[in-house]
Amino acid sequence: MKGLVLAGGTGSRLRPITYSMAKQLVPVANKPIIEYGLEDLVAAGVTEVGIVISPQTGDDIRTAVRSCSDRIGFNPTFVLQDEPLGLAHALKTALPFVDGDDCLMYLGDNLVKGGVADVVRDFETHHPNCQIMLSPVDNPSSFGVADLAEDGSIRHLVEKPAVPPSNLALVGVYLFDGTISEAVESIEPSARGELEITDAIQYLVDHGRTVRASIVSGWWKDTGTKDDLLAAQHLVIGELDGKIEGEVIDSEVRGEVRVGRGSRIVDSRLVGPVVIGEDVQVTRSTIGPEASIGDGSDIADAAVEASIVMDGSTVLGWKIRSSILGHNTKLHGAGPAGFVEMTLGEQSEVLGD
Ligand code: G1P
Repeated sequence: MKGLVLAGGTGSRLRPITYSMAKQLVPVANKPIIEYGLEDLVAAGVTEVGIVISPQTGDDIRTAVRSCSDRIGFNPTFVLQDEPLGLAHALKTALPFVDGDDCLMYLGDNLVKGGVADVVRDFETHHPNCQIMLSPVDNPSSFGVADLAEDGSIRHLVEKPAVPPSNLALVGVYLFDGTISEAVESIEPSARGELEITDAIQYLVDHGRTVRASIVSGWWKDTGTKDDLLAAQHLVIGELDGKIEGEVIDSEVRGEVRVGRGSRIVDSRLVGPVVIGEDVQVTRSTIGPEASIGDGSDIADAAVEASIVMDGSTVLGWKIRSSILGHNTKLHGAGPAGFVEMTLGEQSEVLGD
């Protein structure tokens, strides 16, 4: 079975962060989202992996994927999708790579607790033409949605319906055999001008192919928005074990806390779960719960709670909560007395009074 990880798209719902970086590279608990999916593929035994990239962010994705492929243990092949014309278009573009084999397609901005090894095993046992994963959600109109018959078979799939037939969203993980090529070649663009993977799977249903659905047992997150990202970090970070590799001086450490090599925590409180990268300085500050601080950051006289702070950031005298700071951002001067919530793109600077 081949893997296909989709890492194109514009990430419009994550601006300003995605003005300068691919959404699949945003770190959750200090690890780019795409790495979670790649680890899941390898854990399921899938090591030949096509990565679909866009002209806009493809170089960054290539660099990031190459830097983790040996460690994770897969062999990447990059496939350029010239235009963002939909998930089924991405798959269509990658058909020469898939070459008629079974294929596991994984959206590079999705996180699935417990990985995909079970669903791969299930697919290999029953060998349907397609297998999808479904998860109950509160906002089905934001997803592909499945309408199931009493016996669990799929009656109908619909993309982002105004009136959803159920609360079962299609998770961004799909397994196909070679019959999917006919479907992606045959469907027409949707109202939003994209070739929808949901329509391609509906094509299989309409043409008497077997499409098997399983409901995911653990959590699943599509990290399309800031709130989704913070929720994803909330889920991931709570499962990490603590490990202190840097120095912790005159500071209080509670709960599961990771401090990377070369980091110095002085006169501070770390309230787990917290992940602090390498070469980070934290002075007279409170970090956590649920905060991740990227490598090389400098935090002083500050508080950071339930936030993602990317590499090279500086937070001096500010209290932030439910925030995302892009790479090399700087908050300094006198911040407001209370906590503030913000999203800052890469290299941004905010100077208080
Ligand atoms: C895509 C699919 C949708 C699926 C979702 C899962 O939506 O079109 O069917 O439920 O991924 O993450 P997008 O996030 O591209 O809008």
